Amino acid sequence: MASQETYIVPAKNHEQVILETNDLHVWYGDNEAIKGVSLEFEENKIISLIGPSGCGKSTYLRSLNRMNDEIQIARVTGEILYKGVDVNKPDIDVFEMRKNIGMVFQRPNPFSKSIYDNIAFALRRHGIKNKAVLDETVETSLKQAALWDQVKDELHKSALALSGGQQQRLCIARAIAMKPDILLLDEPASALDPISTAQVEETLMELKENYSIIIVTHNMQQASRISDHTAFFYAGNVLEYNETRKIFTRPKIQKTEDYVSGNFG
Ligand SMILES: Nc1ncnc2c1ncn2[C@@H]1O[C@H](COP(=O)(O)OP(=O)(O)OP(=O)(O)O)[C@@H](O)[C@H]1O
Ligand SMILES: [Mg+2]
Repeated sequence: MASQETYIVPAKNHEQVILETNDLHVWYGDNEAIKGVSLEFEENKIISLIGPSGCGKSTYLRSLNRMNDEIQIARVTGEILYKGVDVNKPDIDVFEMRKNIGMVFQRPNPFSKSIYDNIAFALRRHGIKNKAVLDETVETSLKQAALWDQVKDELHKSALALSGGQQQRLCIARAIAMKPDILLLDEPASALDPISTAQVEETLMELKENYSIIIVTHNMQQASRISDHTAFFYAGNVLEYNETRKIFTRPKIQKTEDYVSGNFG
């Protein structure tokens, strides 16, 4: 760890920690983008990752369900414990693991398929073929993602014909259809208008009853509105991790205060 001052509050109740990283490092070639991050994430909470552009938020988030595996020059060391199991070990079944740790990206990326098939596709790949079960899951996930009322009469229309905000909610529906324990979201509202953003935020607040949500956001209001805990990333390290309220009202570290009050970013 660098000689930077840090302030990281451990989870109140370790039994409720669903995911943690210990001394996580990520390199792209010689560039060390994450420099030994150790954090614990509790169940049924929303956690925001904030920090200036290029500080490593997306890199860190992607490492949590091994999306960095797809980047040839990326190398990840350290532990990523999901319910105590190190998912960063080579023998982990990544396909199965991603069923438990789902992801939604910054730009909506629906498949070029119908609304229905966007959701049913992964379920079928996981062996669910029963039409009644598929219908039911498509309906509940679209309801949970606050999209059902708008699309229920045109489930067989192409997903690409939806608006950006609707596409993003479809991607959230697609992720939650797998019933993951953890949902990772990388700036999911950055391409959305204020109304769609509010709908996505409302969806996330409802989902946290059943899921743990880790969200990267550049929107300070959004972080303070929706998240229970916030981690402030800076130059590949986490400088401060605490209850969101404290990060925004009484940060312990000057850099955090400067960032959340908009003095740099
Ligand atoms: N696919 C990649 N290949 C090489 N370097 C990368 C790659 N992705 C990110 N990096 C580098 O890693 C560092 C952290 O980038 P990252 O995208 O994680 O930052 P970020 O905090 O998400 O930024 P932003 O807020 O702009 O999205 C940067 O130096 C970036 O150039
Ligand atoms: Mg990013």
